Amino acid sequence: MKVIKASTNQEILDAFSVRDRVFIEEQGVDPKIEHDQYDESAIHIVSYLNEQPIGAARIRLIDEQGKIQRVAILKPFRNQGYGKKLMIALEEIIAQHEIQSIQLNAQTHAIPFYESIGFEINSRPFYEAGIEHVSMNKKLN
Ligand code: COA
Repeated sequence: MKVIKASTNQEILDAFSVRDRVFIEEQGVDPKIEHDQYDESAIHIVSYLNEQPIGAARIRLIDEQGKIQRVAILKPFRNQGYGKKLMIALEEIIAQHEIQSIQLNAQTHAIPFYESIGFEINSRPFYEAGIEHVSMNKKLN
């Protein structure tokens, strides 16, 4: 699998195609919430397996914090380590900037996934897009 920073319109559309399948079609998130105003300025990441987009995420850099959002792997490709590889690539991209820590809002079912790569819960549960989340954080060295 290769993970890249989307730099062409096609690569951005590939990232959006994964997010649409996972968040809008599978999880029922409202498209207006899924594609918010931050899509225009965010760094979009897409993973390809045999030239097919199978994973996506976006990064926002806010002051000294990296914010990871919209992490998704297409359903048939889950539980094979691709999500972890995507997260490692996201951390590497964030680490190229003057960033002290990474923050994300995790759907509660995905807490063990993020814990397996060193994130810690730092909030009570809350609802976002109608789905229960917690805030998680990881300090960078
Ligand atoms: N419950 C418990 N552990 C889980 C898990 C789950 N639901 N999903 C993954 N893990 C663990 C794996 O066991 C693995 O642990 P290990 O390294 O000790 O073996 C580790 O997390 C990595 O798993 P991986 O196979 O790389 O994860 P994935 O490719 O299935 O991707 C998601 C994980 C969350 C990205 C994927 O399930 C997904 O896209 N879900 C739908 C969208 C979503 O909810 N995104 C998160 C929004 S916050």
